[in-house]
Amino acid sequence: MRVDILTALPEIVRGPLNESIPGRAQEKGLLEVHIHDIRAYATDKYRRVDDYPFGGGAGMVLKPEPIFACIEHLRTLDGAIDEVIFLTPDGEVFNQSLANELSLKNRIVLLAGHYKGVDQRVRDSIVTREISIGDYVLSGGELPAMVLVDAIARILPGVLGDTSSALTDSFQDGFLDAPTFTRPADFNGLLVPDVLLSGDHKRIDEWRDAQRLEKTRLRRPDLLDDSI
Ligand code: ADE
Repeated sequence: MRVDILTALPEIVRGPLNESIPGRAQEKGLLEVHIHDIRAYATDKYRRVDDYPFGGGAGMVLKPEPIFACIEHLRTLDGAIDEVIFLTPDGEVFNQSLANELSLKNRIVLLAGHYKGVDQRVRDSIVTREISIGDYVLSGGELPAMVLVDAIARILPGVLGDTSSALTDSFQDGFLDAPTFTRPADFNGLLVPDVLLSGDHKRIDEWRDAQRLEKTRLRRPDLLDDSI
């Protein structure tokens, strides 16, 4: 899968995606991430990527020309672009099923907005989907873009050694995760539940299912409503 990220602040995005699971996905050749500084596509002599909003108001707006030019360039490369996604607090809210859906695409472009947003003509003419990572406002779309790439990378086939691990994640089947423990079984008198030491996998599965249901009921009853 190929992901192109368009941003006015490429340094925010560069480091983290080379680490951990997205880094491993790239090393294994299962994911390609390309970061584009839209300033490189600016057309005026000051290389401006933003300007004041028509009609007045606070904040700056990302100009259309550099974004159109960058997308134009990406369209000349091999393979059709499946989605151009604009990260914005007024988009559809990201969740696991959206991550699953996007992980099946070959090529996606992520556009990280900044300042007061992006010229509406970009949204109307280029963007195919608008996604928010939650009901709060961040200072830009870079962190949300990284959230999407991370959530997608870890479910690409072959990225995680133990494929069942991604499938039993919180949300993957509509429940939160059960508690996990590792050695030592007794840490300063804090004990691991006996059942996990029993070696009885049927009982362990039942215990985990009960824990997941209870945690979901307490913390996210809305998830249980959705599954009925
Ligand atoms: N840009 C600023 N806040 C955002 C959010 N919550 N989700 C996606 N993009 C954003």
